[in-house]
Amino acid sequence: MIRSLFARKPIEALLAEGENPNGLRRVLGAGDLIMLAIGAVIGAGIFGSIGSAAAGQVDAAGNVIRVGAGPALVISFLLLGACCGLAGLCYAELASMIPQAGSAYAYSYATLGELVAWIIGWDLILEYAVGNVAVAISWGDYFKSLVGDWVSIPVWLTTGYRTALLSSNPEVHGLLTTAPHIAGIPILINVPAFSIVALITWLLMLGVRESARANNIMVAVKLVVLALFIIMGSQHINTANYHPFAPNGFTGIHQGAAIVFFAYIGFDAISTAAEETKNPQRNLPIGILGGLAICTVIYIVIGYVLTGMVPYQQLGSAADPLAFALKATGMTNIAKIVALGAVFSMAAVLLVFQYGQPRIFFAMARDGLLPHWASKLHGKYRTPYITTILTGVFVAFWSLIGDAGETYDLTNIGTLFAFALVCTGVIVLRYTEPERPRPFRVPFVNFVGVVGAGLCLFVMRGLPHLAWVRFGWWLAIGLVLYVLYGYGHSTLRRSRPPVPIEPPPPIKR
Ligand code: ALA
Repeated sequence: MIRSLFARKPIEALLAEGENPNGLRRVLGAGDLIMLAIGAVIGAGIFGSIGSAAAGQVDAAGNVIRVGAGPALVISFLLLGACCGLAGLCYAELASMIPQAGSAYAYSYATLGELVAWIIGWDLILEYAVGNVAVAISWGDYFKSLVGDWVSIPVWLTTGYRTALLSSNPEVHGLLTTAPHIAGIPILINVPAFSIVALITWLLMLGVRESARANNIMVAVKLVVLALFIIMGSQHINTANYHPFAPNGFTGIHQGAAIVFFAYIGFDAISTAAEETKNPQRNLPIGILGGLAICTVIYIVIGYVLTGMVPYQQLGSAADPLAFALKATGMTNIAKIVALGAVFSMAAVLLVFQYGQPRIFFAMARDGLLPHWASKLHGKYRTPYITTILTGVFVAFWSLIGDAGETYDLTNIGTLFAFALVCTGVIVLRYTEPERPRPFRVPFVNFVGVVGAGLCLFVMRGLPHLAWVRFGWWLAIGLVLYVLYGYGHSTLRRSRPPVPIEPPPPIKR
């Protein structure tokens, strides 16, 4: 029985699924993938969580949750660039070998066996769906500040219950008593966050080509806006703000890295597009590593400019740290343009993650670990429409009442865990399948895999205790579900042929 839990899925089977003529459509090139990576990576992390990473964070009762990195935030970004670069190399090797929509889930199935694959598939919900809750709420915050001058929306319609409950700001916390009540329950809902998730879900239903086009436009906007921030902000640097450089020493750099890691998440998400990519062996590594390199350079420069513009302590209380720094240095109009760019940037992030999550569910359902109906494709658009809708409903309703800060840590711990397993998997596969062609090979694989996994675990250690407790519960719930459903329905362990995918009718365009 124990052996069957670690049954590995043959890579041939994974490759055959990717070649299914009735499967997903191959429409994405290397350029699209780089744009998808940038679209997924630059968002709430750099526009929102960077403030807490620099200044630290306290809870509603005034307890210190983490200390900040201060201007040494650039070192946090460098550390994360190294960590994600090593994990990115491992993702590139596996994604080029196994171009399959399930991403880390599929790689684990081939390398570490079914139980680990299930854990990873379950864990990736934290990265994709829960991560998008944080992004949607952050999007709502920027949207609110952008339209606030023209439209007056009651604050109880733009603030989630959890945000009011956890806020250390007395005004926000006070909403628990001042908001309208029904049957003694305060009505605190985030309508903008809910609405953007609904809109993105609808866009994804129309199909990947249309979505990739929309993504390219949003990415172009975000790059222009960040360039504007760098150019304008660098003219207002006060070098006195760089002293002290590392106010909390290495602990600050470490704990700052653990939260701003959120800014790096996403380069891996494009591996879920493997079955919709032309020539994935060549294009996936280019997309993953190219996107990551561009984002790392941008982050380091932004971290340097931002902490030079204002004293780092001021960044903690700002929900919109980049716009805040511009306003604080007298550039109010530029701040508005940057806020507009943030709205576009985060919409692009939402798009990529809402795109990725259904494809992981799709791959798991195809393996029998989730119910068969979850692997159905839309007759006309050939998109996994059922899982797209389910993901949309899950994220939209959590965003309606959730808190962004609360979900950053949960997403980070889950994602770092997945990265560590991918780094391990690449080494395992070198030993178990040494002869298999590797269109992209990680150089010095033992070093890259071991140090990559080690760095991921090290960054995880910088997260607060509560994140570990919640992560433990999440994994425990996942294991129960596996025992109740996946264990008995797995097509691999029951040695049944894979669940057939319905051939969709011919596409009319
Ligand atoms: N990296 C993505 C963001 O910062 C998740 O929004």
